[in-house]
Amino acid sequence: MKKSLLVTGGAGYIGSHTVLDLLEQNYEVVIVDDLSNSSKKVIDTIKKISQKEDSLFFYQLDLKEYAKLEKVFEEHHFDGVIHFAGYKAVGESVMNPLMYYENNFFSTINLLKLMKKYKVFNFVFSSSATVYKNVPEMPFHEENPLGAANPYGRTKQFIEQILKDLSYSDDHWKIICLRYFNPLGADKSGDLGEDPNGVPNNLVPYIAQVAVGKLSHLNVFGTDYDTPDGTCIRDYVHVNDLAYGHRKALEFIFSQDKGLYEAINLGSGRGYSVFDILHSFEEVVGKAIPYKVTDRRPGDIARSLADISKADQLLGFKPRSDIKEMCQDTWRWQKKHPNGFSEE
Ligand code: UFG
Repeated sequence: MKKSLLVTGGAGYIGSHTVLDLLEQNYEVVIVDDLSNSSKKVIDTIKKISQKEDSLFFYQLDLKEYAKLEKVFEEHHFDGVIHFAGYKAVGESVMNPLMYYENNFFSTINLLKLMKKYKVFNFVFSSSATVYKNVPEMPFHEENPLGAANPYGRTKQFIEQILKDLSYSDDHWKIICLRYFNPLGADKSGDLGEDPNGVPNNLVPYIAQVAVGKLSHLNVFGTDYDTPDGTCIRDYVHVNDLAYGHRKALEFIFSQDKGLYEAINLGSGRGYSVFDILHSFEEVVGKAIPYKVTDRRPGDIARSLADISKADQLLGFKPRSDIKEMCQDTWRWQKKHPNGFSEE
């Protein structure tokens, strides 16, 4: 019999690609998403690409509404849960910390209470590299000290702690927190991809919008870092690799008899500078992408790289896409849908 999974935030960027991967691997998926930062069209697109309409269920609701969420648990028997839903904009979290703490904590706690009540103990949590304390030594290893630098990051860090406490309290729980580095890329169809609200904060969606003519130029935030070309280095990982990382995490959980709690990095293990990404994108697009060098962006660190040996040893996770493929896939999506999901 098919395993049934609850995926919160399944209409978001990483969530939707993960749902697609799970459907292709013959899971039944129930998405719960309030569509506050995504679109109903994502659900229709997943159905179209996967051709698995019968295995996909969707509920538009806010996880903070306990009674409504309980109805979903009453209607479906879940084998596991992947929890993506949450606010995720760093700058917004600095301006409005209460909104972040209220949303990300209350929704997670409701979800965990219902999982306990309905005896669903298999859980994969969408965490972030942002939980790590900034240290000069790279790469970040899972045992590194934590110390998120903004309210958004602290919601991830504190939820990891809540999950650790939960796993100590009851050894039925099997919990994996996946700490992602910098996701990019899109589904090969070109119909599913990242659709940021307003002007993008992140590098690759910004470059893609310059390339398609929606923005005039890229601002390169600082060329005076202690790196080979002076720009910051990040560990970019294809969103499809992240999706497959979630599936591997679930499979690992299903294969274990005993309770477990693990935090695991998901990245590519390779670092690229802002200029590396810009040039790779130019190569894919076939034209120069205008840019201006500006001051550093407050809060940026020179390097962020993942040690991915734990993901390999425990989950058998091996990233499959290189930077060119990530830029090609991002560009296919951007070119086909210059206005994201809001166009049609
Ligand atoms: N950058 C630019 N110009 C831009 C946007 C970004 O030069 O317009 C540079 C940044 O200075 C940085 C690099 O591109 O050096 C990557 O920046 P992103 O904003 O794409 O990614 P971050 O590494 O800052 O952010 C990521 C995730 C966040 C997470 C954060 C901390 O996207 O969700 O890592 O781990 F909080």
